Amino acid sequence: METNHLLIKFVILASCLIHPRVCSPSCYFPAIFNFGDSNSDTGGLSAAFGQAPYPNGRTFFHSPSGRFSDGRLIIDFIATELGLPFLNAFLDSIGSNFSHGANFATAGSTVRPPNTTISQSGASPISLDVQLVQFSNFLTRSQLIRNRGGVFKKLLPRKDYFSQALYTFDIGQNDLVTGLKLNMTNDQIKAYIPDVLNQYCDAIRNVYQKGGRSFWIHNTAPIGCLPYVLDRFPVPASQIDIHGCAISRNEIARYFNSELKRRVIGLRKELSEAAFTYVDIYSVKLTLITQAKNLGTFQTFFHVFDILWWLVVDTGGKYNYNKLIKCGAKVMVEGKELVLAKSCNDVSFRVSWDGIHFTETANKLDLSANKRRGVYGSFYSP
Ligand SMILES: *[C@@H]1O[C@H](CO)[C@@H](O)[C@H](O)[C@H]1NC(C)=O
Ligand SMILES: *[C@@H]1O[C@H](CO)[C@@H](O)[C@H](O)[C@H]1NC(C)=O
Ligand SMILES: *[C@@H]1O[C@H](CO)[C@@H](O)[C@H](O)[C@H]1NC(C)=O
Repeated sequence: METNHLLIKFVILASCLIHPRVCSPSCYFPAIFNFGDSNSDTGGLSAAFGQAPYPNGRTFFHSPSGRFSDGRLIIDFIATELGLPFLNAFLDSIGSNFSHGANFATAGSTVRPPNTTISQSGASPISLDVQLVQFSNFLTRSQLIRNRGGVFKKLLPRKDYFSQALYTFDIGQNDLVTGLKLNMTNDQIKAYIPDVLNQYCDAIRNVYQKGGRSFWIHNTAPIGCLPYVLDRFPVPASQIDIHGCAISRNEIARYFNSELKRRVIGLRKELSEAAFTYVDIYSVKLTLITQAKNLGTFQTFFHVFDILWWLVVDTGGKYNYNKLIKCGAKVMVEGKELVLAKSCNDVSFRVSWDGIHFTETANKLDLSANKRRGVYGSFYSP
């Protein structure tokens, strides 16, 4: 694999980010392989543990789509911008077409293998190491099966796509929240971050050894601004900034990100034939949240903390978030089905969908809000 060729590819990609429409035809990735958590899960957890119920999916897909959002995720916008179909989840055995990539992400995934079950803590058993095993399995078996010809040829990626593909990673948020669930202090959480990043880097090396050369790595969001973190792990009022975010929680995310960035710089040297793009999702999301009120196109107040759900049963709480009542939750009352959490109609004026995940509007706006910065935004065509 020629380094120069890759370099050129990334210079072109970088210019695509700034001027999407002058993107040349050589700015071409024939496939995407994604690893991550719910921020990029397009059906993995749903395939294994049951569909994320309606109204997840209401805006764009008009039915549950395996995504924890009302609509498309950032990974969907990336696929579209690269001229590729939406990624199917590796675990989804029904109707999947992997000719242009596969998605190994599942909601609740961590980098490190969890020590609790999904029913105890919500942690997905499909942690990053398992996602890598699945990728390895996919790499080998897809070619064996593709060689049978016929329909299999149209459902599985060509062998050379594996070296040409874009490998995207968006994971780590749940590793940080795991420490909060264990009542750890910031220092205790920071102390285990090197171990998380060691395992993260091993996963990237593993993909590199299998031929991956183009890596696109999202850092982690400002968790201190997410309603579920604010509600479940409250901090004293003095710890809340003028935007309503928990200062100490964001500090953990920033520490993780600065260390991740350092590791990526190290990997650039170590894996010399690969190209790495480190994407500062933290700043994108923070801008979105702190600038929500004056985002040009919106005349109405842009709600950040009023999540899209309203709880039919008023359980109180500042953020309209209740960890016991999930999106679409239902109960039976005297033989009738009662939906406990319904969605509002003004989808396009909310940032947070369910207190944890972002709305399609926010996922799209990440971009336009940051077009000015020429970093990320114009990668999409909203
Ligand atoms: C799980 O437990 C083992 C053994 O105590 C420990 O080494 C590891 O760091 C733990 N993992 C997580 C994610 O906490
Ligand atoms: C799978 O998707 C590709 C690209 O969209 C398409 O060309 C191909 O026909 C699809 N395969 C089948 C069996 O539908
Ligand atoms: C964390 O603290 C809360 C409140 O004090 C307590 O209810 C919970 O059991 C603690 N969790 C752990 C894992 O220690």
